[in-house]
Amino acid sequence: MGKREKGKVGLTPHGLAFPFSLFPFPLVLMALSLATISCSREAWHRFPSPDDAVKLIPWFATMHRGPALQPYDHSRPPVPGTVPITGVEREFHVDNDADLPAINRTRNPVPRTSESLDRGKEVFGIYCYPCHGPTGQGDGPVTEKFIQPPSLTAAQAKGYTDGYFYALIRYGRGIMPMYGDKVRGADRWHLVNYIRSLQAAQ
Ligand code: HEC
Repeated sequence: MGKREKGKVGLTPHGLAFPFSLFPFPLVLMALSLATISCSREAWHRFPSPDDAVKLIPWFATMHRGPALQPYDHSRPPVPGTVPITGVEREFHVDNDADLPAINRTRNPVPRTSESLDRGKEVFGIYCYPCHGPTGQGDGPVTEKFIQPPSLTAAQAKGYTDGYFYALIRYGRGIMPMYGDKVRGADRWHLVNYIRSLQAAQ
């Protein structure tokens, strides 16, 4: 390759270098003069609207025909097959009957390994123990001043699906607050696994 860097804009012995040499100055000047004329009030009615003239220039025609974005209209729907990059999850609440089928279909993706149970125990000790007590009997220290929650190892809780536990932890239920903002990601499933292990121990 020669000394001159490819694509660099500037003056050369031959005049203006690429890309100025390809720039269609006449077309741009025409567009600018049309825009200027149409801005002066007297000329306004004598000349065609710039909107009509602009589409005669091949480049601008593409923009003229392109779908217009109306910023204050509703947002445009994502193209088919769009994948959310933030991993946004569907919102579902156990006290909403319409959400229950989807909740109960949700599968637990985290196997009940000893690592998962250890992590679940740790998170349980931080967030759930104050009300639910060390083994989920509903005898945590807060219950002296607060309502005693149902036992997590009773028949009712044993009958819940993993998805139900997950959604309940995520969004709360009744007077139990939501923990989805504090317990995040796989930790929610580690909790589910730990509750299952408490149930199995009963
Ligand atoms: C502030 C006290 C409190 C804390 C902390 C708390 N819960 Fe609860 N929990 C409750 C109450 C009260 C209920 C009963 C809610 C209702 O009647 O809808 C409940 C209900 C539940 C149930 C349903 C039990 C059933 O038999 O229906 C589960 C499962 C549960 N909690 C899990 C958890 C987990 C897991 C955590 C920790 C992330 C947690 N809770 C933290 C108070 C609490």
